Amino acid sequence: MQLVSDKILEAQKGSSWIRRMFEAGIELKKQYGADNVYDFSLGSPDLNPPAAVIRTLQELPAQVDVPAGLGYMPNAGYPAAREALAKWSSQEQGVEIPASNIVITVGAAGGLNCLFKAALLPGDEVICPAPYFVEYGAYCGNFGGVLKAVPSAPGTFKLNIEGIAAAITDRTRVLLINSPNNPAGVVYTVDELKELAQILRDARKGSDRPIILVADEPYRFLSFDGKTVPSVLPYYEYSVVCSSFSKNLGLAGERVGYLAVNPAMGKDEAAQLVAGLILTNRTIGYVNAPCIGQKLIIGAVADMENTLKMQNSQLAVYAERRQVMASILNDAGIEFQMPAGTFYFFPKAPEGMGDVEFVAKLAEHRILAVPGSGFGYAGYFRLALCVDKAIIERSRQGFIDAMK
Ligand SMILES: Cc1ncc(COP(=O)(O)O)c(C=O)c1O
Repeated sequence: MQLVSDKILEAQKGSSWIRRMFEAGIELKKQYGADNVYDFSLGSPDLNPPAAVIRTLQELPAQVDVPAGLGYMPNAGYPAAREALAKWSSQEQGVEIPASNIVITVGAAGGLNCLFKAALLPGDEVICPAPYFVEYGAYCGNFGGVLKAVPSAPGTFKLNIEGIAAAITDRTRVLLINSPNNPAGVVYTVDELKELAQILRDARKGSDRPIILVADEPYRFLSFDGKTVPSVLPYYEYSVVCSSFSKNLGLAGERVGYLAVNPAMGKDEAAQLVAGLILTNRTIGYVNAPCIGQKLIIGAVADMENTLKMQNSQLAVYAERRQVMASILNDAGIEFQMPAGTFYFFPKAPEGMGDVEFVAKLAEHRILAVPGSGFGYAGYFRLALCVDKAIIERSRQGFIDAMK
């Protein structure tokens, strides 16, 4: 008896490496105790939520104990949440974004799905640089889209602009970039964004079906050494920013994200795209982004000054962890590029050893990593620093031993 489709059975077989390593970790922790396993598998923030979120949570009973206090809301989100996010993202992007261009979604993941559902025809292509967040393939596949990955430069992970230009066909509908990048930790430069914009324009000269540039940015706040992450909005009019509060405020379980549509594409075009996104947000099956989550975000954004302070203090925690991991990898003789952003490292597997093989070797030393093959980029492996600095420090000898 087969109850699920062939497509899903096939997808289950190739099920995410991240999940596989996470589950292996649960077994190892049972065997050796949680403190003796160095689990760098999952990019799930381990820090406390901001005070403004906790305060809003405490005030919620009074807010919702009114008729329809927890009822349906407009599909684009509560007007107050759209206003708050327009303010937040205008400040972040350096571009004035009206509340009417914001659609609140179920995480960045829900945002990408809404956008693909709104924009893709079956067989349309979504180009993205590799390595990439593995769920992208499933998200565009949900709506008949095909993910076309273009490998970035080995080691530096700079965008392969020529490769991206060569990958564009008549079926290309979206170029999806993620900066700071999971897993490579790279931040794309203004020059790279300008070059991308140019090739997208050149590819669609005289056409009324532009390529949409989607900037998936849940790690925007995690940029080190005082550098800011350039916004795509000033450089390419048919662009959309997708983000959430999963990583910056440690609210991955709260499930609120958003799409910000570039006003520069023109009033009518932006209105058409926003209306499409509002419809897909509704019909995709979630109906709305969760109302409690939206109320918590309104609280956090209303207290912007303190929330930004908290965001910076989280950045400082990850910056410290990054220094410790860099010193461990140096001691072990593992080749890596210092991540410019995110809480990930994406080092190279040792010469003569595949990434899957080296990750298995690390597991013998109770270190859990994810092979680069799981991100469309073999030969490297990902370490997520969502664990305490003391645990990272204790993994030092394991890395050294695994390299012997
Ligand atoms: C690159 C990237 N995009 C999107 C997401 C999904 O984020 P959210 O929790 O906001 O749905 C993740 C989560 O890990 C991610 O790494």
